[in-house]
Amino acid sequence: MRVLLFTGKGGVGKTTAAAATATLAARRGLKTLVVSTDTAHSLADALAVPPSGEPVEAAPGLYLQQVDTQRSLERHWGELQDYARSAFHELGLDEITSEEVTVLPGAEEIIALLELREQARTGRWDVIVVDCAPTAETLRLLALPEALDWHVSRLLPIGRRLLKALGPLVRHVAKVSAPEESVLSAGERLHRGLMAVRELLTGDNASVRLVLTPEAVVVAEARRTLTSLSLYGYRVDAVIANRVFPAGGADEWRARWVEAQTKQLADVHASFAPLPILTVPYLPAEPVGVDALAEVGDALYGEHDPFAAPTGEPPMRISADELTLWLPLADKSDIDLARKGDELIVTAGSYRRVIALPAALARRTVASAALQDGHLRVTFEI
Ligand SMILES: Nc1ncnc2c1ncn2[C@@H]1O[C@H](COP(=O)(O)OP(=O)(O)OP(=O)(O)O)[C@@H](O)[C@H]1O
Ligand SMILES: [Mg+2]
Repeated sequence: MRVLLFTGKGGVGKTTAAAATATLAARRGLKTLVVSTDTAHSLADALAVPPSGEPVEAAPGLYLQQVDTQRSLERHWGELQDYARSAFHELGLDEITSEEVTVLPGAEEIIALLELREQARTGRWDVIVVDCAPTAETLRLLALPEALDWHVSRLLPIGRRLLKALGPLVRHVAKVSAPEESVLSAGERLHRGLMAVRELLTGDNASVRLVLTPEAVVVAEARRTLTSLSLYGYRVDAVIANRVFPAGGADEWRARWVEAQTKQLADVHASFAPLPILTVPYLPAEPVGVDALAEVGDALYGEHDPFAAPTGEPPMRISADELTLWLPLADKSDIDLARKGDELIVTAGSYRRVIALPAALARRTVASAALQDGHLRVTFEI
């Protein structure tokens, strides 16, 4: 099963590119599911079908699912979060720790991820296409399983220990409310589910396509997005430049746009090489419905096989004495590295990843760290 994620700045054509790719897949006989993590119904609008929380067939072999964020996992999550907050407070644990717990990410995104995984598990699909929310939310969404791993792995043992060792005593003396067993097991279920989602989305059969339009502001954001996606371990396998004005005609207005876009496209090639840059022309009408989307798909991929397994190295590699993280387009001055116990905390600009080191490296001191050709190389002492 191949998983394809589409992300990019708001309005650049993520939904269109995702729907076009899914349409091509179905036309090639692949059992295809296209899902949206967005609360808006754009995907259903693009495919010209009514929105639905369950997969519905939009065209032969092409199923659409709009994740229903109304479904309330929030209740459970809220319980866990409230419990953690009050327990930390009552136990007088340090500020930072309790703060880490209160930034537990939103329930809506969790639902979207879990539903995606449920569908993947059915074994029913050859291709799952994910139309993600705009950049910032997507990154949060994508980083979520790992962020959650970090929080939950701290939270659960404390909760359990608290329950076991202190429970009856503390409840009387310090009035710390012990959590209901069900809260903890809900947390554990979540944790396991999200680990599986992360594995799915960063696995060998998943890749992200970064959608942009050839405009300075959009390209600048796409560059940052590429760095952060790689930081979080997601493999980007193509950049899609959408709404490219076709050259020609005697119109001054259009000539100026073509000129400006040509300059931006040169920048895009220089920035994102060796990733393939796929282009879609600015069409004379909105591509709505499977026929129009199939045409977009053909223009988009040309000779490229959109469903081939991703090639190249994964963003992170770990060997016996070295960890290498691909951080394309990152500036040396934006990168920060910290060690905390058996974790390595890597910061790139405003994004941060906490990497749990494997046992082989966890007890060893960092010997050196260097950023070269977009690769952060961290070596460990023997
Ligand atoms: N190449 C194109 N030519 C003409 N119109 C396009 C093209 N690509 C997308 N559009 C239209 O532009 C609008 C925005 O596209 P789309 O909904 O795919 O963007 P999006 O990135 O998903 O937006 P959002 O961030 O709101 O989810 C839609 O009306 C779509 O039909
Ligand atoms: Mg959209």
